[in-house]
Amino acid sequence: SSVEYIQYHGILLPPLAHSMESLEYAEKFSVEDSDVFAVTYPKSGTIWMQEILPLVLNGGDLTPIHTVPNWDRVPWLEEKRLALVVDKLESPRGLVTHFPYHLMPPSFHSSKAKAIYVMRDPKDIVVSSYHFHKMAEFLESPGTFDEFIEKFIKGKVLFGKWTDHVKSWRGADLGDRIMYITYEEMVQDLPAAIRRISDFVGRNLSEEAIQKIAEHCSFRTMKNNNMSNFSLVPKKYMNSDTSPFLRKGVAGDWKNHFSPEQLARFTSAISKDLEGESFSLPWS
Ligand code: PPS
Repeated sequence: SSVEYIQYHGILLPPLAHSMESLEYAEKFSVEDSDVFAVTYPKSGTIWMQEILPLVLNGGDLTPIHTVPNWDRVPWLEEKRLALVVDKLESPRGLVTHFPYHLMPPSFHSSKAKAIYVMRDPKDIVVSSYHFHKMAEFLESPGTFDEFIEKFIKGKVLFGKWTDHVKSWRGADLGDRIMYITYEEMVQDLPAAIRRISDFVGRNLSEEAIQKIAEHCSFRTMKNNNMSNFSLVPKKYMNSDTSPFLRKGVAGDWKNHFSPEQLARFTSAISKDLEGESFSLPWS
């Protein structure tokens, strides 16, 4: 499909979920000290965190993941839904955002709210996003995989350049208000990842609670949870016959998609963009 995106401070946003009003609402949003933001570049583990966070914050009570769709349970800061559900959020609130750091609202900076920045191998992000653009009718068609890789490298995709996003959040001066985690770490050992998250938000969860949360946040369980698998979204917006939202849930699917030329082109473009940065990333 062809879609006219909203341009907002140099990034592109789909109008189905965003509007100038929702962006203004985000700018003026009143962040609370107890808020926890899961921050992600799209396709890096957002809905996974929408499952994990409420369970960690409430000690493993499954009610929210069984009764509230993920987008209302842990809403996106920048999306239209937030204003509609904000009064129903229980404290401490879990929120998600795809914003780069400099678009966070002033009240975030003056608060003690915490941020969990989830990163993923950009090669797997491209693959996941490519399939998502095929099934999401409210997004532009991706073109060929080759064309989509070029768009991704140039940042002509939702929420802009991946490298800009990572640089902004890796450079954020938030001290112990921020924790960094990778999607790959979560795939490799979910209970350990949940333990890190729970320690970070100040919950001292029992090993039993951690195991229970991990079980309910597994790919398989989430794929069967109608409150989390986007089956409640009408087919005209998301066609899961083309590709399900919870598609593969693995690390390294890029190997089934990239040609050697594409890999070389991609890797050199990404490392050029990250030249001189003081942080290092686990992917080559
Ligand atoms: S979005 O559109 O930005 O909100 O998408 P996002 O949720 O960030 O990313 C979607 C990818 O995350 C995978 N996913 C999971 N992987 C492993 N385990 C669990 N529980 C899980 N939940 C979501 C999802 O399958 C998408 O990745 P791909 O590679 O396409 O499968």
